Amino acid sequence: MPEQSSPARIVVLVSGSGTNLQALLDACADPAYGARVVAVGADRDAIEGLARADRAGVPTFVARVEDYSSRDHWNRALGDKVAAFEPDLVVSAGFMKLVSPEFLEQFLTLNTHPALCPAFPGMHGPRDALEHGVKVTGATLFVVDAGVDTGPIVAQVPVEVREDDDVASLHERIKTAERAMLVDAVGRIARGGISVEGRRVRIGAPAR
Ligand code: GRF
Repeated sequence: MPEQSSPARIVVLVSGSGTNLQALLDACADPAYGARVVAVGADRDAIEGLARADRAGVPTFVARVEDYSSRDHWNRALGDKVAAFEPDLVVSAGFMKLVSPEFLEQFLTLNTHPALCPAFPGMHGPRDALEHGVKVTGATLFVVDAGVDTGPIVAQVPVEVREDDDVASLHERIKTAERAMLVDAVGRIARGGISVEGRRVRIGAPAR
């Protein structure tokens, strides 16, 4: 993370509605938060996440896999687009693509997942939790590694599963808690740094 006087530079990656992005944008409006969203990237056009960035006056970029000759080529292009904004931190907030090990070497990348890792990884965290019958699920912020939702855990928040929940109602309640968790953890990281040693993550420690 940068010196305290300059806000941490964050690039946010999105694929959809971008409510987590919006929570970060709103938090960053307060200079005391300690971070600034310097760009928003997406893997598709015409999504609400990009519109939210436009409305906030934040630059955007799009890298669509289908526009590149290979997944490798896409990964390199995505890395170049992100690097142009010199981020201290990349936040994948509903970004529905896995990035390459090279990308993860280059950028400290956090992802938010709508389940309590290591339970229910993958695309359907709320559905899988509901089908399993757990009484408590939640959201997890983690440092992205080569696996699917397997990286070192930065923060978690529990959410009760109600008897009348369906996937949509459960996911919406998770997202409310998820946004607060994300804003809190990213702010503390921006202001205090983060250290990752094996699976142990500490906030408020020097950047790795
Ligand atoms: C979040 O629940 C995120 O964890 C999941 O997709 C949702 C994205 O929501 N991967 P939004 O686009 O931030 O509204």
